[in-house]
Amino acid sequence: MRTQVAIIGAGPSGLLLGQLLHKAGIANVIVERQSPDYVLGRIRAGVLEQIAVDLMDECGVGARMHREGLVHEGIELLFKGKRHRIDFPGLTGGKTVMVYGQTEVTHDLMDARKAEGLPTVYEVGDTVTLHGFDGTSPKVRYRKDGVEHEIECDFIAGCDGYHGVSRASVPKGAITEYEKVYPFGWLGLLADVPPVFHELIYANTERGFALCSMRSKTRSRYYVQVPLTDKVEDWSDDAFYDELGRRLDPEARERLVRGPSLEKSIAPLRSFVAEPMRFGRLFLAGDAAHIVPPTGAKGLNLAASDVKYLSSAFVEHYKEKSNAGIDHYSARALARVWKAERFSWWFTQLMHRFPDSGEIGQKLQEAELDYLVQSKAASTALAENYVGLPL
Ligand code: APR
Ligand code: PHB
Repeated sequence: MRTQVAIIGAGPSGLLLGQLLHKAGIANVIVERQSPDYVLGRIRAGVLEQIAVDLMDECGVGARMHREGLVHEGIELLFKGKRHRIDFPGLTGGKTVMVYGQTEVTHDLMDARKAEGLPTVYEVGDTVTLHGFDGTSPKVRYRKDGVEHEIECDFIAGCDGYHGVSRASVPKGAITEYEKVYPFGWLGLLADVPPVFHELIYANTERGFALCSMRSKTRSRYYVQVPLTDKVEDWSDDAFYDELGRRLDPEARERLVRGPSLEKSIAPLRSFVAEPMRFGRLFLAGDAAHIVPPTGAKGLNLAASDVKYLSSAFVEHYKEKSNAGIDHYSARALARVWKAERFSWWFTQLMHRFPDSGEIGQKLQEAELDYLVQSKAASTALAENYVGLPL
C-alpha cells in the first residue's frame, strides 16, 4: 500500500489529523492497535478550547458539538468552604469553552472518516513497526489476521499516545524526556444524574481535591483525589458520593444527586514532555509527545494545537512546495506545549493536598486562592490559560 501520510493511532490526534489532511486532498491511512469500540470506551476529559472547537468545524464535524455541547462562561473555585466564580468572557475579552466529551469528539470524527470511506486499519495489536524515517522513504509495517502488510509513505505521524510505538522507535540519544509523577490519583465516576451545578466546580479542601464536571445536563462526571495505593474495587458508589459530598460546600452537597456509576476508574497524574517532536520524517503529536495532569483539561486541547500545526506543515509541503512548516513544527508545538504544561502543573499544585506539605502547605494554597479571586490580574492569568492561549 502507498499513501502520503501514515498515521499511527486513531485517538483524537490521529483522527483530527486524518480529517484535516483529507480536506486538503492529502492521502492518509490510519493504523490503530484497538477496535473502534475500545477506543470509544476510554473516558477522558471534556472541555474544548475555542481552538479545538474551530478545528472540529474545519474538519466538517462540528454540527453535533454545536447542538449538544454546552458553552461555559466560567468555573467556580471552592476553598475554605466557599465558592468563587471566575468569569471567562469578562476577563478574556469574550472567550468561552465548550463542554463536549472526548468520547463524542472521537465518535464524530470516526463517523466522518467512515462516511468518506477513508482507510483505517483497526485491531492490529502490538504489531506496528516504523522503518526508514531518517531517510526519504519511510515505511510502516503491521500484521493483521496473520498477514504482514507494508505501507510506503512520505511521512509518518505518531499519534499513538503515551504508550505508543512511535516515540519508542526513536533512538534513545535523539530524544530528551522530562517527567514528573504526582503522589496521588483521580478517582472518577460517570453517572446519568444532573450536575450539582451548571458550571464546573474545582475544590481545594483539607481532605483533598474534588472536581464536579459534566458531559451534558443529565450526565455528570465527578472526581476525588485519592492516594495511589487505593483500588477502584474498594470504592463503592456510595463511598464515592459520601467523600465527594464532604469536599463540597453545603449548597452543592445538598444538590448532589446520586446514581449508579456508568464508569469508575483511577487515573494517575503525570507531567511529561518529549523533545523534539520531529525525527526526520517522523512527527509526534498529542499524548505520544506530552502528558499533562488533568487539572485544567489541557490534554485534548494540546493534541488539537499539535495537529493544527502539523496539518498546516504538510499542506505547505504538498501545496506550496515549502518545508518551512515542517522544519518549524517541533519548536512551534513545544512552545505551546510547555505553557500548557506549566499551567496544568501550577493548577495541580494549587488545588491538591500533597502528602508532605503539611498544614503550612494548605494555608499557603488558601492564601494564593484568596489572592487569585481578589486580584483581577491573577484571575485573568487563570482565565486566559483556561480558555486557551493563542496558537
Ligand atoms: N499501534 C497502533 N496504535 C496504537 C499503538 C500502536 N503500537 N499504541 C497506541 N495506539 C493507539 C491507542 O490505542 C489509541 O487509540 O493510539 C491511540 C492514541 O490515542 P490517545 O491516547 O487518546 O492520544 P491522542 O490521540 O494523542 O489524544 C490525546 O487523549 O489521553 C487523552 O488527555 C489526552 O485528551 C488527550 C487526548
Ligand atoms: C472532565 O470533565 O472529565 C474534566 C473536566 C475538567 C478537568 C478535568 C476533567 O479539568
